[in-house]
This record gives sequence, C-alpha cells and structure tokens, in this order.
Amino acid sequence: MSFDLVFFGGTGDLTWRKLMPALFQAFRHGKLPEGGRILAVARDDQSDERYREWLKERFREVDAGKRPSDEEFERFASLLHYKRMDLSQPEHYQGLKDWLDARNADTVVLYLATSPYLFTQICQQLGAVGLNHDKVRVVLEKPLGHDLASAQEINRAVRGVFAESQAFRIDHYLGKPSVQNLMALRFGNALFEPLWRRESIANIQITLAERLGVGTRGAFYDGTGALRDMIQNHALQLLTMIAMEPPSANDADAIRDEKLKVLRSLKPFTPDSVARDVVRGQYRAGNIEGVVVPGYLDEVKVPPESHCETFVALRTEVNNWRWAGVPFYLRTGKRLAARDAQIVVNFRPVPHKIFPGGSQPNRLVIKLQPEDGLELQLLAQKGTGQGEQLTPVSLDLDFDKAFAAQRVGAYERLLLDAIAGRLNLFVRSDEQEQAWRWVEPILDAWAADPSGPRPYTSGSWGPAAASALVARDGFSWAEEQ
Ligand code: BG6
Repeated sequence: MSFDLVFFGGTGDLTWRKLMPALFQAFRHGKLPEGGRILAVARDDQSDERYREWLKERFREVDAGKRPSDEEFERFASLLHYKRMDLSQPEHYQGLKDWLDARNADTVVLYLATSPYLFTQICQQLGAVGLNHDKVRVVLEKPLGHDLASAQEINRAVRGVFAESQAFRIDHYLGKPSVQNLMALRFGNALFEPLWRRESIANIQITLAERLGVGTRGAFYDGTGALRDMIQNHALQLLTMIAMEPPSANDADAIRDEKLKVLRSLKPFTPDSVARDVVRGQYRAGNIEGVVVPGYLDEVKVPPESHCETFVALRTEVNNWRWAGVPFYLRTGKRLAARDAQIVVNFRPVPHKIFPGGSQPNRLVIKLQPEDGLELQLLAQKGTGQGEQLTPVSLDLDFDKAFAAQRVGAYERLLLDAIAGRLNLFVRSDEQEQAWRWVEPILDAWAADPSGPRPYTSGSWGPAAASALVARDGFSWAEEQ
C-alpha cells in the first residue's frame, strides 16, 4: 500500500520532537508500509537535501534509544521530502495537490501539526483544491479549540470538507500501550466485570502527575492551563475508558458511542459545585530531586500576575446505573512530587470483619507511566499463628518487562493507525465537544472568581485543598494511605 504523509508545520517542535522520531521508530521496526513518502511543509525556502540535514541535526536532541545511526538516517531520509508553502496562498495548495497527484498514492494522510488557529483555513483551502477525496485523511493535533465554541468552529470547518471517517483527532494518551491495555483488562477478561460497578467500588482516582514545569512553553501554557491541557482531553479520555459499558465490537464507532455516553452522564458543574469540588493550584519555587526550581510566575514568558492554573484536582460522578454515587477524582499538575500517571480503583471494605486489626480494602492500581503494569492489592495471612493480623500483599504485573521488545510508542502507533485508516484510538467530534461542554462551567466560574489558583510548593502533591477534597468523602489519595 503506497502512502503519502504530509506534515503541515514540518519544521515545528511537534514534528521534529515527536512525529519524526516516531516515524523513524516505525521505519526501524519495519512497520512503515512500503512505498511511503513523507513530505514536510513549512514556510522556509529550502531543498529536500537541506531539510534532511536540518532534521538529522534535530535528531541529535531526541532520546538516545530513538536516534538513528548515520546509516539508518540515510535510508530513512530517502523517504523525506520538503515543500515550501505559505498556508494563506491558494495556489500553494494547488502545488501540493499536483505533487501528490503526480504519484497518486493509495492513501494520503495530511497531518496538521500547526497552531490550531490555522486549522479552519487549511481545511478550507484543502477542500477548495479537491484534497479531500476518498483517499485523503486529515489528522488534527490538540489543542482542538480552547472552549466549546472554538472547538465547534474547527469541527464545522473540518466537517465542511471531510467526512467524519476521514478525520483523525489525536489524543496521544490513547496511543499509549498502557491505555490500550485498559480495554484489554476490562473487555478481554471476565474477572473484573462483575465487580466493576457501584456495589463493589468505593471510588476511582485518576492522577496524571508531572515533575516538569512549563519550561519554554510559558507563552502557550499561560493561555491554556492544566484544565484545558490535560483534563479536558487526556484525563477525561481515561475516565471514559474506565467507566464505559462494554462496546458491542472492537470498532471505532462502537467504542466511541460508549465513551460519549459516559461523557454525557458526567455530573454537570454549577458555580457552587465548582467552588466545592474543583481545586486549582499554581506552583511556587521548590525543590525537585535536589534541584531548586523556579515558581510558575518566574518562568519565561509568563506574565507576573498570571492566574493560570498548573494544577487541578476535581471530584465528579457518572450519573448512570453502574456508577451512581461513586466519586471519580481527577488530578493533574506540573512540578509535582513524581512523574506518575495512574488510575486507582478502590474497592469497598468487607461487609463484616472477622480478623483482628485494621482491614484495608482491596485496590487495583493501573499504572500508566513511568511504569506500565497492574497491581492488585489484597490481604493475606502469613501463617504465624493464632490471632494474626492480615498483611497487605500485592499481585504485580510489569507489562514493560513482559512485552518491552514488542511495544510501540504512542505516536508511532497513532501514525501507523492513521496510515492504515483505523479510527479506534482517535477522538470523534461529538466526544470532544461534549468534553468541552462539561469543562466550560469550570472555566466560567474561575473567570468570575478573582481569588485565582492556590499556591503549592514545587515537589509537593499540590495544594492541601486537594487532599481535603477527597478527605471530605472519607477517602484519601493513594500516596497518602
Ligand atoms: C501534552 C500536554 O498533551 O501532554 C503537556 O500539552 C504534557 O503539557 C504532556 O506535558 C504529557 O504527556 P506525557 O505523554 O509526557 O504524559
């Protein structure tokens, strides 16, 4: 199957930091279909040769394990082409079309790795020159809008030109092997399903914690914040995968229909519930692994009075028969104590205690990163004699260790899926809009509240109010237990 993969924003950060290394990995693993061409499109005037040299230099900055040797780069570079385009010029789109038509590949994937402000314009111009025919797919990179109205506007522009089945909206968390494993855990095994409901589960906690600060992305981040950057997309996508009903088939629409139902069942926020159930924070200077790090307000290109949140913790519920009354806690933040993404399913305690001592309810920890695995925490007896208290033990599965050599990174997986036309791991427009609809009352309430985010020290787990949020229900975050 021949394909042409075009990167708009071909000299941008996303392209060289994530997309090209991922493609190179696919190439190295022999997974890239034969007969592919990769075309980078950007404003600079340069030849294929110059672009290849530039990219070779950039590759020196990616993880050593993902860096090609000179010989590997030579082979990979033979797939790479460059085309200068001014995205406001209609005739430049015609030039692109002519370039693609001259070969007439089986599949054309157009990846918009540009600022989202350009999406509408690019889609319209692509449509105007007929680059929306059956063989074309368009890949859209987040952020897809900054509120419901802007997301709807982008979706209208995309829909005006492409069918939904041609639109691949990326949420790179869905490409992570650990996240796909969630589907396998729930729907490839019968074990947990009878327990996966309000009768057995006390609460669910989703944590996406980062050690890094905003780094050089201050200007972008300050207009975005943690709610838009991580909760509206990554955290909510994880929540849908945890809470969804079993889909009738492992196909894109069956899965996305179920995810949408979860989003529609989320308890809507009001100004009062935002004040009660959502905590926003902003990091101050602190210490991460022995290194003193600056506070958010001292980061490059961050305005000195900024109210931008770098931390969010919230409590919600999924209002349906399976989950009514079960708290779902979502939490994300920069400059936290650890880089740790995990989902913790806390089961209910035994209904009647017959052993001495405390009794710790069972817990399933789904580790997403840095480790990728499952830990089931149980209680056992050591067998030391009468009157013995129970001891916590755990069943620990390390997927990295078990499958390391065969695993494929998130962008590699998603790029290969886009080339192959598999939509399962991409977000449908109605899901994405519903996620914005749910998040928007939080944004509105914050905009009307001059108190701003609560400070927290870098290297901590966020403001104390985040602990209080969970403690109010009689629970605590996993690291506090
Ligand atoms: C991105 C956010 O979507 O996800 C970043 O824009 C964040 O701010 C990143 O750092 C986290 O992704 P990962 O894969 O490193 O957990």
